[in-house]
Amino acid sequence: MTKPLEGIKIIDFTHVQAGPACTQLLAWFGADVIKVERPGSGDVTRNQLRDIPDADALYFTMLNSNKKSLTLDTKKPEGKEVLEKLIRESDVLVENFGPGALDRMGFSWERLNELNPKMIVASVKGFSDGHHYDDLKVYENVAQCAGGAASTTGFWDGPPTISAAALGDSNTGMHLAIGILTALIGRDKTGKGQKVAVSMQDSVLNLCRVKLRDQQRLERVGYLEEYPQYPHGEFSDVVPRGGNAGGGGQPGWVLKCKGWETDPNAYIYFTIQGHAWEPICKALGKPEWINDPAYKTAEARQPHIFEIFGTIEAWLADKTKFEAVDILRKFDIPCAPVLTMKELANDPSLRASGTIVEVPHKKRGSYLTVGSPIKFSDMKPEVTASPLLGEHTDEVLAGLGYSRQDIFNLREIKAV
Ligand code: COA
Repeated sequence: MTKPLEGIKIIDFTHVQAGPACTQLLAWFGADVIKVERPGSGDVTRNQLRDIPDADALYFTMLNSNKKSLTLDTKKPEGKEVLEKLIRESDVLVENFGPGALDRMGFSWERLNELNPKMIVASVKGFSDGHHYDDLKVYENVAQCAGGAASTTGFWDGPPTISAAALGDSNTGMHLAIGILTALIGRDKTGKGQKVAVSMQDSVLNLCRVKLRDQQRLERVGYLEEYPQYPHGEFSDVVPRGGNAGGGGQPGWVLKCKGWETDPNAYIYFTIQGHAWEPICKALGKPEWINDPAYKTAEARQPHIFEIFGTIEAWLADKTKFEAVDILRKFDIPCAPVLTMKELANDPSLRASGTIVEVPHKKRGSYLTVGSPIKFSDMKPEVTASPLLGEHTDEVLAGLGYSRQDIFNLREIKAV
C-alpha cells in the first residue's frame, strides 16, 4: 500500500521532543525522514534517562521511529557541503534549535530559500519571532507556564501546576505538522516553499482557548458559575484554578471508588450532562431528585453540586472504577475510569487499534510506544524502530552521489 507522504523528503534537524514528534508523525504517513545528528553524540535524548546501558533511551526510541539517521557535523565545511546537497533535493527542513542556532550555522531562511526555493522550512521556538522573550530557550514546563496552562491548572489552594501531557512539546509538534502539510499543499499551487513557524507558547495557549473565554466572562459578570468557587467562594480578576471541574457547561469531578484508600487511581470522572440528569438519578437510586425544584435544573444544582457529588461517591463506595463505569454507561452518562499507564499499556483495545504498539529494536529488544492516534480507512501506519546513531549515513551519502572513496574520506575527516 502506498502511503500519502511517500516521495516527500524531510531533513529532520530536530532534537528532544517538540520537533521529533512532528517528523515522526510525517514518517508514519510515508515521508522519507532523514534525521541529521552530531557525530558521536546525536540527539541528547539518546542518552537521557537510559534504562539499558549502551542502548538508546526510550525517550529517543519513542519519538524517532520510522526515521533514518545521518551523522554530520554541520559546522564544518565538509558537513555544510553535504547538507547543502541534501537541501537542494529535499522538500522540507524541520528544526527546533535554540533561537539563532541555524543562522549561526550559516543556514538562515534567506540562504535556505536561495539553495532551494521550493523547500518548506519549519521551525519550533519557545516564543514567536518578535516576541519580547524570543531569545529564550524553552522546555515543556516553561511553555506550560508561558501559555496559560499552569496558572489555570491545579487546585485553588495550591500552586500553579504542570500537566503531565506534553502540551508544550508534542502538542507544538502536531501544530507544526499541520503547518507543514498546509505549506506542501500551498506549494502545489504556487510552486514556492515558505517558512512555517510555530511557538510553544502559542500552541499551549491555543489549547487554553476556553480559559481566555473564561477571562472575558469573568471581566463581564464577575463570576464563573461552573467553577467550584461559585457561588460560595471568592473570585479575583483572573481566571482561577478550578481543580477537577469540567470546563464546559456540564459540571464534572473526579470521584472516589471502592479501594481509593489504598489505590491512588481508584477514581472515575463523572459528568453531570444536563439531559442525563434523569438517568443519573435513576442510576443512583434517587428518583425523587428528578423533579425536585432544588435539583431539576443545572442552575438549581450548582449551589449544592458538591453535596450531589458526595451522594454519588457514597453510591460508588462498593464499586470498583470499572464496575461503576459498566453500570453508568448503560444510562448514557459520560464517564471514564482514571486509567494508569500500566492499565493503558496492557489495554487490549489499544493494542488492537495500533495505538499501543510493540516495536522490535536492534539493541533494546522490543519496546512499547504510542502508535498513530490518527486512523485512516486506506492506510494503517506501521511503526518501525528508531535508527541507531548514524545507521543510514552511508546510504544517504551514496544517494547524494558520493562515491565509496568520498564517503571514506568524509569519515576520515570526521565530518560524518
Ligand atoms: N553539527 C554541528 N553542530 C550542531 C549539529 C550538528 N549536526 N546539530 C546541532 N548543532 C549545534 C547547533 O548549531 C547549536 O550550536 P550553537 O549554539 O553553538 O550555535 C547547538 O548544537 C544546539 O543548540 P541548542 O538547540 O540551543 O541546544 P541546547 O541543548 O542548548 O537547548 C533547547 C535545547 C531545546 C532548549 C533549545 O534547542 C530550544 O530552545 N529549542 C527551541 C524550543 C524547543 O523546541 N524546545 C523544546 C524541546 S522539546
